[in-house]
Amino acid sequence: MSTKKTPTSSGFFVSQEAPINTDNPIPTPQSAPPDILRCAYMEIVVTDLAASREFYVDALDLVVTEEDDTTIYLRSMEEFIHHNLVLRQGPVAAVAVFSYRVRTPEDLDAAVAFYSELGCRVERRKEGFTKGIGDSVRVTDPLGFPYEFFYDVEHVERLAWRYDLYSPGALVRLDHFNQVTPDVPRATKFMQDLGFRVTEDIQDEEGTVYAAWMRRKPTVHDTAMTGGDGPRMHHVAFSTHEKHNILAICDKLGALRRSDAIERGPGRHGVSNAFYLYLRDPDGHRVEIYTQDYYTGDPDNPIVTWDVHDNQRRDWWGTPVVPSWYTDASLVLDLDGNPQPVTSRTDTSEMSVTIGADGFSYTRSDDGEDMPDWKKGEHKLGNQL
Ligand SMILES: [Fe+2]
Repeated sequence: MSTKKTPTSSGFFVSQEAPINTDNPIPTPQSAPPDILRCAYMEIVVTDLAASREFYVDALDLVVTEEDDTTIYLRSMEEFIHHNLVLRQGPVAAVAVFSYRVRTPEDLDAAVAFYSELGCRVERRKEGFTKGIGDSVRVTDPLGFPYEFFYDVEHVERLAWRYDLYSPGALVRLDHFNQVTPDVPRATKFMQDLGFRVTEDIQDEEGTVYAAWMRRKPTVHDTAMTGGDGPRMHHVAFSTHEKHNILAICDKLGALRRSDAIERGPGRHGVSNAFYLYLRDPDGHRVEIYTQDYYTGDPDNPIVTWDVHDNQRRDWWGTPVVPSWYTDASLVLDLDGNPQPVTSRTDTSEMSVTIGADGFSYTRSDDGEDMPDWKKGEHKLGNQL
């Protein structure tokens, strides 16, 4: 299969194999990876549970499966497993775990073997680590992220048919995670060993990789690796059915005088083609609302590569990316609950090559014109302030 990049009429390139190579690979284990079905839930530590409840339950209308004084278990309208998001009260805002469902109970043995061979810390609990989840494996992976795998889970009612319960901005599925890591090619190669397929990436002509999207379920991604100081969590994303549901969330946040929770968007992504909105919860954890990406399940699904200087890669309408979106992310915890140390990215940052009057960004790659002054380096707000 070819990593040759072919230009398309939409401005990006396609290839048959991810055009990403690392000179610093994590060894490929002999043990087969667990058969991962999908991203299933994220557990986050919040410093004010009541404030977080107001955000996730009252403003975003996630469904409460269970709650007590320290923990809230939330799910989306179409979910049948116990939860998609756990909010746990704690001293430091951080991510406790990125959790994936695997195909069979035996896949947990595979997870133990795979990560043990890499010398990672691995813990298995037959009774599970959280309510609603049975036998599970938690690891600190070679990139420093807390990952969990489980099969056993309590089923709850799928509320998809309960239109009497839908709000105008109803969140219907957990769609993906997004992780910040200093070395994207290294992380991508490791995730490929874990069985993920790359669907899209952002590169420059020198082959510096700024971000890569990868999937197990047949959508654009279950997680993405974003270049930056890490390990950190960039965002967790929930889907709505339609674009208008995302606009309804913006309207509701305005009506609640909570417009300051809106960080970026609404807009249309170039990468993934999805409609999007980025919010920040009361602790600053970033949540994306996302809808209408595309099917990627065929074995020869074309891999999309964007030029980092394409002004439409992050927003199809050329709307600027605010600097906080590039710089801010949540800490992640080790298996004892302590924040993982953060390592700086040494490769060029996407923000530095696209924000500011660098003159390199373009809307039409072949017309030889600089961006207009008011939009230089794609960051028109920054140039006007
Ligand atoms: Fe996302």
